[in-house]
Amino acid sequence: MAEAFDTDVLVVGTGPMGATTALALARQGIRVRAINKRSWLADTPRAHITNLRAMEVLRALGVEEKVKQVATPWELMGDTLFTTSLAGPELVRMRCWGTGDDRFGDYLRGSPCTMLDVPQPVMEPILVDAAAQHGAEIAFNTEYLGHVQDGEGVTVRLRDRLSGHDYSQRVRYLVGADGGKSQVAEDAGLALEGVAARAGTVYAQFRADLSAYVAHRPSILYWIINPAANFGEIGMGLLRAVKPWTEWIAGWGFNMDGGAPDCSPEFALTQIRSLVGDPAFDCEITGVGPWYVNRQVAPVYSRGRVFCGGDAMHRHPPSSGLGSNTCLQDAFNLAWKLAFAVKGWAGPGLLESYTAERAPVGRQIVARANQSRLDYAPLRAALLEPGAADPVAACIARINAPTAEGAAVRRALEAALRLKDTEFNAQGTEMNQRCTSSAVLPDPTAGEEVFARDPGLYLAPTTRPGAKLPHAWLVGADGRRISTLDILPEGRMALVTGLAGTHWVDAVQALGLPWLAPVVIGAPGMQDLYLDWHRAREIPEEGALLVRPDGVVAWRRASAAGSIEAATAELRAALAGILDAPV
Ligand code: FDA
Repeated sequence: MAEAFDTDVLVVGTGPMGATTALALARQGIRVRAINKRSWLADTPRAHITNLRAMEVLRALGVEEKVKQVATPWELMGDTLFTTSLAGPELVRMRCWGTGDDRFGDYLRGSPCTMLDVPQPVMEPILVDAAAQHGAEIAFNTEYLGHVQDGEGVTVRLRDRLSGHDYSQRVRYLVGADGGKSQVAEDAGLALEGVAARAGTVYAQFRADLSAYVAHRPSILYWIINPAANFGEIGMGLLRAVKPWTEWIAGWGFNMDGGAPDCSPEFALTQIRSLVGDPAFDCEITGVGPWYVNRQVAPVYSRGRVFCGGDAMHRHPPSSGLGSNTCLQDAFNLAWKLAFAVKGWAGPGLLESYTAERAPVGRQIVARANQSRLDYAPLRAALLEPGAADPVAACIARINAPTAEGAAVRRALEAALRLKDTEFNAQGTEMNQRCTSSAVLPDPTAGEEVFARDPGLYLAPTTRPGAKLPHAWLVGADGRRISTLDILPEGRMALVTGLAGTHWVDAVQALGLPWLAPVVIGAPGMQDLYLDWHRAREIPEEGALLVRPDGVVAWRRASAAGSIEAATAELRAALAGILDAPV
């Protein structure tokens, strides 16, 4: 008799990784229980910058509009200052997150979504609420204690923290989304490599209306060159708009050799006054605390029936804003694979592809985020006069000097800011991830991918297997624009072809698989009236793509199928390979 499981998937954690996993699984009809040892969701505004790929995940999961309602919009995100204080002389400005004239079109062209700033305490409730609405069970005050797995499932020990009662649940799969101190990862033997707590920063949250200083130069980040905050790799203070323009974070580095930093409200107020540039400035301080810079990543994300993701597997500083964004994408990658496995549509090879596809991304983002901190050095070198008695005055004099030396400083400043594009206008880093695994079959007719432009800065849309399906605007049944990303069938594989790809469509119908749908671009409801897809698809109209439920192209044929029989045989073999299951 088949074993009766308490639930199919138990997710430990309701942060960005856990909540997104629960939502994606619930939307696919999987029984999922997400637990949180606390009785609250995120209570500090940690993650906020939400990049285009993460927004596409939110769109696919049906919560993009809700997120937009509470987010700081794209147009308020990027007129970023480097200044001596909010009130003091400005040094240089930088347009970030694609809001500059030179990058605006790249960002618009690359995605149906825009970047947004969504503080974690407003993002998490939306994800958890949507997961619950789709049938996920959410349990607060429920602590993961340990697990034992066997060939059929996982027995998980839990504690109800309200009653103190310990109990076990039997589940098919366990997901460790329990953050930077992951017990699940430790118990599963998924060790991280790298260095923990290699630098420290203090963040003070406060409420005050700073509109007079910032509304005319809107940004979510204001960098302050100031002796009060000149310690560490970045060597600048930060004022971050949590809610324009009344809720803020002030940040500054501290020397870890000196022990715990001063987190008293009195010291925080002194620092905030100095960053704002008003010695009489007053505000309501709502929290002060340190966080630490890590450079840690796990080479393996799963063991048997246990899968980890998010900060449990990759830990790095907030520079480049890649943390929660990567959590969402780990979750999106994992959830459909678990759903297919639970439904009996996929074998263990598909689940193993999770590590193969996500561990390289984890490695890349940990390196990128740490490098982004180091890349402030040329900017500081351009601005600061070594050994100056009054560094701020010296800095202002230096960059305004009407001399050849002044011109050299300004040249150095321009080069230093261009380097910071790799943090602040890095559309490629955020969107160009390529999956290489058994769940992606190479296109034998395509050679090695060559990037025409810097792959860190610029999106390189492609239909090559391993890339996400490019966005192109189509025209829907009501005459409105819809994206190619919007026409993918949720929770199923898609065979994407054009009007001339009839054999492929017939083959899908002949196969009659509940988890494979034909998508004919050009047909009513998805007409290519702008010819955007014609230009983006890289293969002739009669060719075909297999697109996974996470939007990744898994297989590509650049030509028509010779017959329905040939198309059926080819699709059958491709699908069996991708899913590691007989078709
Ligand atoms: P997270 O730590 O958020 O959640 C873990 C969950 O597990 C919690 O619900 C916790 O209660 C639960 N849990 C833990 N142990 C448990 C147990 N034993 N039993 C039950 N539940 C348990 N990212 C980004 O993309 N853009 C950005 O701009 C920033 N900015 C930023 C600024 C600062 C200052 C910080 C510190 C971090 C960022 N980040 C970021 C990073 C981002 O905050 C981080 O990557 C995510 O919160 C990680 O999400 P997870 O879901 O992996 O873990």
